[in-house]
Amino acid sequence: MRVLVTGGAGYIGSHTVLQLLAAGHDVVIADDFSNAKPSIISRLVSLSGKPVTVYTVDLTDEEATDGLFASEDIDAVIHFAGFKAVGESVAKPISYYRNNIDTALSVLQAMDRHGVRTFVFSSSATVYGENPICERTEDMPTSATNPYGWTKVMIEQILRDVAVADDSWRIALLRYFNPVGAHPSGEIGEDPNGLPNNLMPFVSQVAVGRREKLSVFGDDYDTPDGTGVRDYIHVEDLASGHLAALDTIAAGDDPLSVWNLGSGSAVSVLDVVNAFSRASGRDIPYEIVPRRPGDLPAYWADPSKANDELGWKAIRTIDDMCADTWRWQSKNPNGFPDA
Ligand code: WQD
Repeated sequence: MRVLVTGGAGYIGSHTVLQLLAAGHDVVIADDFSNAKPSIISRLVSLSGKPVTVYTVDLTDEEATDGLFASEDIDAVIHFAGFKAVGESVAKPISYYRNNIDTALSVLQAMDRHGVRTFVFSSSATVYGENPICERTEDMPTSATNPYGWTKVMIEQILRDVAVADDSWRIALLRYFNPVGAHPSGEIGEDPNGLPNNLMPFVSQVAVGRREKLSVFGDDYDTPDGTGVRDYIHVEDLASGHLAALDTIAAGDDPLSVWNLGSGSAVSVLDVVNAFSRASGRDIPYEIVPRRPGDLPAYWADPSKANDELGWKAIRTIDDMCADTWRWQSKNPNGFPDA
């Protein structure tokens, strides 16, 4: 298939692009490069040995987005494009709602106009909001505790309404848990702008000497070691989950499907620190500090629905995640080159 990957220059998007190309798909990337460096494209071409068509485009621009569909014969869309920093979304709600909702609507409108009906959406476990049941299943109610999370909840609702209105759509809502890791080549990986919000890139930057120490946000949670517990999933497993979902919905007759993409393993902050230390051979200095507002104590995926219906399973361990992250970080101490 000819697959449009919006946000395809980003962390998860780029890893998914490589697997799409390896599987024989043609790929068109649409990215505004607001959170990705153009230098990644040459690495994708080099790693895949395949050409990639790239549009530098603001997908909130309906005319530009429609023009892309007029120029390219797209069979399916995997939609990653969107702002994704929880803290930033609290500070800039209008920007987040404008960008994330308008981007999704602009792409969906162009798809509708051009007869493209296969859509894989990058959703998030954040849509489960606060729930006393730590193991998340797809039938749980959705809510959010921040504007970023609400954009995911709202776009999921838009997609449900689209599927009800026209059952010729084939839509997958993929709810990611905590994506971490990097391509085994070490040539691409997570490269956050500025101070990392998320645990793994921060730990990685401490190990490589870019950061002095990790702040552990609380060790007084009701968890085995007192630190926050999450379900970390290797970005390569996450990418293969997208290909499995794309193939499944394209071949099926369900207008809309929902799947958790997680490992099902409950891993604490200190588990990550210790695993990274093993992988890198470096000590990871850390300091226990007060809890981060909005953080939940513990949650992880029940991935059985995806396992059963997609024939997909996350296979990489936290040690694999740390080893691959370290290879990327140690080869690229300052992330992707600017040029
Ligand atoms: C993981 C654990 C922190 C940083 C967020 C978004 C979610 C998704 C993934 C987009 C927590 C602790 C973290 C640090 C720490 N993003 N931590 N020190 O918060 O589970 O999820 O990213 O879809 O929507 O909410 O990920 O990596 O920020 O935190 O102690 O410097 O690490 O308290 O327990 P989180 P995270």
